[in-house]
Amino acid sequence: MNEMMCFAHRGLSEHTPENTMAAFQAAVKAGAKAIELDVQRTKDGQVVVMHDFYLGRTNNGEGLLKDYTYEELSRLDAGSWFSTEYAGERLPLLADVLRQLPADILLNIELKRLACETDSDLAALVIELLRQYPRPVLISSFDHYLLKEVQSIDNTLPLGLLYASNLIDVFAYAEQSGLKISAIHPSIDCVSPELIKRAHQLGIKVNVYTVRRREEVALLKQCQVDGIFVNTLEVVD
Ligand code: G3P
Ligand code: MG
Repeated sequence: MNEMMCFAHRGLSEHTPENTMAAFQAAVKAGAKAIELDVQRTKDGQVVVMHDFYLGRTNNGEGLLKDYTYEELSRLDAGSWFSTEYAGERLPLLADVLRQLPADILLNIELKRLACETDSDLAALVIELLRQYPRPVLISSFDHYLLKEVQSIDNTLPLGLLYASNLIDVFAYAEQSGLKISAIHPSIDCVSPELIKRAHQLGIKVNVYTVRRREEVALLKQCQVDGIFVNTLEVVD
């Protein structure tokens, strides 16, 4: 059994503004070996790092992110909402993160797209960036069509199947969908020792989001979970 991997969720998001270079640098400084971030496609076909579909919660913009060019988005302040100390933080491009993070950090890139955006080429854009800036990655999404698109373009990329319900048989679902997954990424409310055991029998890892309490960390360790998403590394100290 390998040591449990701790993914700094949206960077070190309890201590710094989520999904910014400050959050990623803080995660590296704190000793994280893996970082999770969320990416979306801008109006002009760039890949930008942000969680919500709508601007406003983590910056001073408004409206849907997908309706803006990166030039417009790059003028937003993505730090002040968190603290004045971070005023002027920008929404980073995925390319910037791929270029700037140390090469040995495992990056979990979560692809986000509105279900109505069926013509979005986000999967292809991300794969093109990974060809330009190769590094260890794990691609995940709640949008399983997007995972299929990734797989059809490059079937060597490890895929993590994100979900938030207590599914009856997630492995049968993945197989029936034609998805070859490296890992399942269930929400913490849908994890059981049986699920983890079955995953391991199938050679599939289990990475659980989002883990906020030491008690949860202890239980998940006991069940030999492979990875957890945390907003601070203090819960695993
Ligand atoms: O990838 C784990 C977690 O980030 C999934 O949920 O909404 O925080 O992106 P969310
Ligand atoms: Mg995420």
